Amino acid sequence: MTSTVNGRADVDSSSWLTIDVALAERGYPVRIGAGVRHTLPEVVSDIGARRVAVVSARPAAWTPDPGVPHLRIDARDGEQNKTLAWVEELCARFAEFGLTRSDAVVSCGGGTTTDAVGLAAALYHRGVPVVHLPTSLLAQVDASVGGKTAVNLPQGKNLVGAYWQPRAVLCDTDYLTTLPERERVNGYGEIARCHFIGAGDLRDLPVAEQIAASVARKAEVVSLDERDTGLRHLLNYGHTLGHALELATDFALRHGEAVAIGTVFAGRLAGALSRIGPDRVAEHLEVVRHYGLPTELPAGVDTARLIALARLDKKATGGLAFVLDGPRGAELVRDIPSEQVAAALDAMPRTTGTAL
Ligand code: GLY
Repeated sequence: MTSTVNGRADVDSSSWLTIDVALAERGYPVRIGAGVRHTLPEVVSDIGARRVAVVSARPAAWTPDPGVPHLRIDARDGEQNKTLAWVEELCARFAEFGLTRSDAVVSCGGGTTTDAVGLAAALYHRGVPVVHLPTSLLAQVDASVGGKTAVNLPQGKNLVGAYWQPRAVLCDTDYLTTLPERERVNGYGEIARCHFIGAGDLRDLPVAEQIAASVARKAEVVSLDERDTGLRHLLNYGHTLGHALELATDFALRHGEAVAIGTVFAGRLAGALSRIGPDRVAEHLEVVRHYGLPTELPAGVDTARLIALARLDKKATGGLAFVLDGPRGAELVRDIPSEQVAAALDAMPRTTGTAL
């Protein structure tokens, strides 16, 4: 059997990696490796679920049988599908199937699917067990772990959500072989930002170990600050500008790509504020570039708009707030003067040509 320690990955006899998210009675394993989706029946049996609603954005051949009577619900990945209407429809389908709290929900898809299905599981009967099978690198590294669930409103991203921890997360690396190249690289945006929040240099590791190390760092942070009152802000390294870029480009930039540019910018801003030296600023660029991600601001996105969007960040309580590297490591820095942020944005290279 696998031996696991919070925040550390140990290889089990099948060469899968397991990270425990230590949250007392709400703790759970994140299992990583080729073929781990086939352990779903074991997970469902451990939960004691008699029946399961499987919400899947993947074809039947890629959606494992949960080993108990089940209802399959087809889903579609994509921010446009992350709506309250979809959550309502899911809950209605669960009710028609007669799902109870003794049963379970399984999500299979990218982060937008695990987010919305997680929220439906949190709300239905005031909470039913959920197991996530994230199929994109982005979802395996970040979205499916840590219990944040949400859908979007026309007014903004992830504005309606709940904390609802899954009972297990199965990160099957076989899914990654099916991803289009741009989507695969997109996932590295969250891995790149891990370099600066205490996960170490993951550049030369095999992908399963990169996922495990990123999840292990997230597990440590979440176990100390599940409800995002302080330390968990670290996970948003690169995200203040990243979220602004996603909105400013109408999601033409993908989340991981935007976070990658946001990470390069976080290094530059920390340098401009004399929190880190030039070598560490350059390391931000090198790491992001290593993973094949964009490092420049898109042409046509103006500084004033980015600053206006950055002010909407949930971490900001008044002025502009960024998670920045510094002498004590990364931390949330609030009330950064907008002139300094504007100067750092203006100094950042931009792609030539039209905006994305
Ligand atoms: N994706 C950031 C968090 O889970 O807190």
